[in-house]
Amino acid sequence: MSDKKLWGGRFTKSTNAAVDDFNSSIRFDQRLYYFDIMGSIAHAEMLGKQNIISSEDAEKIVNGLNEVMKDIENGTAEFDISAEDIHMNVEKLLTERIGEPAKKLHTARSRNDQVAVDSKMYTKDIAGKIKKQLVELIAVFTKIAQENLYTIMPGYTHMQKAQPVTLAFHMMAYVEMFKRDIHRIENTIENCSQMPLGSGALAGVTYNIDRDYTAKKLGFAEPTLNAMDSVSDRDFVLDFIYSASVVMMHLSRFSEEVILWSTDEFGFIVLDDAYSTGSSIMPQKKNPDVAELIRGKTGRVYGDLMGTLAMMKGLPLAYNKDMQEDKESLFDAYDTVSSCIFMFTKMIETAKFNKDNMAQGAEGGYTNATDVADYLAKKGVPFRSAHEIVGKLVLFCIENNITLSQVSMEQYKQISEHFAEDIYEAINTVNCAKQRKSYGGPAPESVQKMIDATEKYLEGLK
Ligand code: ARG
Repeated sequence: MSDKKLWGGRFTKSTNAAVDDFNSSIRFDQRLYYFDIMGSIAHAEMLGKQNIISSEDAEKIVNGLNEVMKDIENGTAEFDISAEDIHMNVEKLLTERIGEPAKKLHTARSRNDQVAVDSKMYTKDIAGKIKKQLVELIAVFTKIAQENLYTIMPGYTHMQKAQPVTLAFHMMAYVEMFKRDIHRIENTIENCSQMPLGSGALAGVTYNIDRDYTAKKLGFAEPTLNAMDSVSDRDFVLDFIYSASVVMMHLSRFSEEVILWSTDEFGFIVLDDAYSTGSSIMPQKKNPDVAELIRGKTGRVYGDLMGTLAMMKGLPLAYNKDMQEDKESLFDAYDTVSSCIFMFTKMIETAKFNKDNMAQGAEGGYTNATDVADYLAKKGVPFRSAHEIVGKLVLFCIENNITLSQVSMEQYKQISEHFAEDIYEAINTVNCAKQRKSYGGPAPESVQKMIDATEKYLEGLK
């Protein structure tokens, strides 16, 4: 048998204990305590200001809520499963502290608008935290780029060596992704700017409330416009989890590269011992577990997104209890993306790039073949014909097991009269990257522009 419920009036039996356990969300939604109490304080002040309750009662409630906040923060408050969720637990704790006046707090509101306002404030808060982490990550990537404007490495398409690029260029490619991630997170914050409190259960309230006051007090731009939408809307939760999913996708792609680059076959990167792990049987092993876990946890955040989307899709207006299921996904997505950005940043910051192996890698796989074709095209050979000529040349090199730089002048001349001594200069892998000066290309001066633009962008964010 459970305790008497705050809503127990119309019931003749107590709730089955297993139902209490099944229904209850306090185990996880206690995370919202701060926003729940702040929302209640604003609500109580508004009720007092509007003479809906007396100003003495409002004051007692506000003081009591501040005490409850302290009790929760120092761990002396005890949550009760049969009080279901954070909203009713806070009310119960307040009642234990101040008695009768506490019973007036729930005037002109419902748990439906309460949970919506709490979740929105929480989402806005965690989105701001993720934004800060992304800014730090971008700073680390940009620093590595600045130090590696001339570090040549192979660029790949289809996982086949394609053209020489630089490590700086590769790093700045990710910076563009992280900047878009910040944009998505900012959009999530923007989508949390309307306040649902005061929407009641679904149809507003019969009291003369002042929603502009509570909106301002709680840091929202304005109150939501339609009460029914306000209590049914979890778009902002999805916005956050989607933004987190895309961040994870980006971290996962680089993690995959880290895993590949740290193989003996590639040898492009050496992870710091403090950010790698060993094997219980093979003494020589040093495994990129952190990168693998980030790649793995990406699936988990996608699960949070898909679960929440599926949970919402069949819900008629307005509030339905199904929506309580949004919280574990939201919390899990936040915990996961936050710890992954943190670990990823540290792992990259402490890693060493093996510049020799990278440069060596760019020498193989005929990465400068396009440059040979471009050389001919610049001498007037139509590019399509140049492509054909160089294709044959590459075949010749493969058959003779030589690189394009090892082809002799006579051999070049035999293939096309347009070739001259300057071909060797043109296809040197360092020059191949340097020549790609087009806007957005890997030439050091182009990448420097990306770095400068990024620094300016970061400045503008502050
Ligand atoms: N714990 C609930 C949730 O997270 C709060 C709202 C409950 N409202 C209700 N009418 N039962 O969704």
